[in-house]
Amino acid sequence: MPIVIVAALASEREHQVVQDAISQDHELFLAAVVHRPEQIEPARLEHNPDLIIVSSQFAIDQTEGLVERLSARWPLQVIVIVPSEDPQLIRTFVKAGAADVIPLSAVVSELPTSVRVALKRVERHLGTPIFRRGQEPGQIITFYGPKGGVGTSLIAVNTAVAMASRLPNPVALVDLSLQFGTAGMLLNLSVDTTIASLAQRFQGELDWDGLQPFLLTHPESGLQVLAAPSRPELADIVSTLLTEKALQVLKEQFRYVIVDTPSTVQDTTLTALDAADVIVIVSALDVLAIRNTQLVLEMFRKLYPSERLRVILNRANANFGGLTASQVENILGVSLTAQIPSDGQLAVTSLNEGVPFVLRSPQAPLSQAVFQLAATLAQQPIGPITPTRAASNASVLRRLVRFFIGEE
Ligand SMILES: Nc1ncnc2c1ncn2[C@@H]1O[C@H](COP(=O)(O)OP(=O)(O)O)[C@@H](O)[C@H]1O
Ligand SMILES: [Mg+2]
Repeated sequence: MPIVIVAALASEREHQVVQDAISQDHELFLAAVVHRPEQIEPARLEHNPDLIIVSSQFAIDQTEGLVERLSARWPLQVIVIVPSEDPQLIRTFVKAGAADVIPLSAVVSELPTSVRVALKRVERHLGTPIFRRGQEPGQIITFYGPKGGVGTSLIAVNTAVAMASRLPNPVALVDLSLQFGTAGMLLNLSVDTTIASLAQRFQGELDWDGLQPFLLTHPESGLQVLAAPSRPELADIVSTLLTEKALQVLKEQFRYVIVDTPSTVQDTTLTALDAADVIVIVSALDVLAIRNTQLVLEMFRKLYPSERLRVILNRANANFGGLTASQVENILGVSLTAQIPSDGQLAVTSLNEGVPFVLRSPQAPLSQAVFQLAATLAQQPIGPITPTRAASNASVLRRLVRFFIGEE
C-alpha cells in the first residue's frame, strides 16, 4: 500500500520536481499539494499522510515554525526543500526537526530514498511497518484459459506489466502455473525464489514479512512477482492453504494482484478463482476454445456472481475458418471485455528477448489492446510511462547532512 505524502510548495517548479520524483516510485502517493502554509493543517487532517514535504520558500521563519510544529506530530516525518545547498539553511531545518533537507536540484534523484530512510527510522522506533496500515484491500484478478495455449499467460503477464509501469499503484503477479510457469521467462527474471521456496518454509501462518523475501522485482516496471516453481515436480508442495494465505497477504499490500493459472483445474487454481475479485476468462477463435469457454462459463456462473466474470478473446483478428468475434459473443451470450489482436512476430520476439511486448513496442496494436484491457480491469486510465531516472550520487554535503541527522 502506498506511502501517503502531502506537499506544501511555493512554486510551480517545486511542484513539477516533486511530482517527477514521486512518479518514479510506485509506492509513493502524492495525496495533496497545497500552496499556502495555512492549508497544510486541513490537508494533514484530511489525508493523514506519513510524510509532509515543505518548501523553504515560504518566509524562512514561517517554514521553520511549520517544520517544528509538524515534526512534533510523531511519527509524521517532514522533508524540507531548499533552493540550494546552503549549509546554514540546512542546519536551521534540521534543528527544527526535519527528517531531511534536499536542495531543489537533487529532489528528483534523492527524494524517494530520503522518504524511505525517514520512514525506516520511524519503523525502527515503532518496531512495525507504519505505512501499511488500514488501507483499502487491493483487487485479485485471476486469469484463466479453459483451453491451454490460447495465450492466457502472455496476456496476464503483459497486463500486470502494463499496470505496474503505468499506474501509480503497486502491482503484484502470482504465477500459479505451478508446473510450467512462464512469468520468470517472459520477464527475464533470475528466479532465485519461488512459491515453492516459500512453501518449504511455510508452517501454516504467513504475513508480509514472511512473504516479501520471496517476491522478485521486475526492474523495468516495478512489478513484484511470486514466481512458479523452477521444476514441475515441486508443484506438489504448494498447498491450497499457502496459496490462499499468500493471496490474502498480497491483497493487503498491493492495489492489484494478477494471478496466472494453468488450464488444468488444480486445487490451487480453484483457490485463486475463489479468492478473485475479477476472473478473466481467456478464449480464442477456435471451436474447442469456445466450447470450453462455454462449459467453464456455465460452471463459474453457478459458483460466482456474474459481475465478477469477464471474457476476453485473444488473437481476435485472426481469420480461422471465418469465425468472428461477434459470433463468439452470440454463442457465449456475453459481451467481450477485450479483443486482443494476433501478432506472432512481436509475441515471439518479446518472449525470446525477455522483454514484455507492452514495454518493447508500446504502440503496437497488440500492446495497445493490452493497455486498454489493463485500464478496464483497473477501472482507471492508464497514464504515460513513468520515467526511470538513474539516481545520482548524493553530494558530499548531502551525505554529511544524512550523517548528521543520524541514519545510514
Ligand atoms: N495475441 C497473440 N499473438 C500472437 N501470438 C500469441 C498471442 N497470444 C499468445 N500467443 C502465443 O501463443 C503461445 C501460447 O501462449 P501462452 O500464453 O503460453 O498460452 P497459455 O498460457 O494459454 O497456455 C505462445 O507462444 C504465445 O507467444
Ligand atoms: Mg499459461
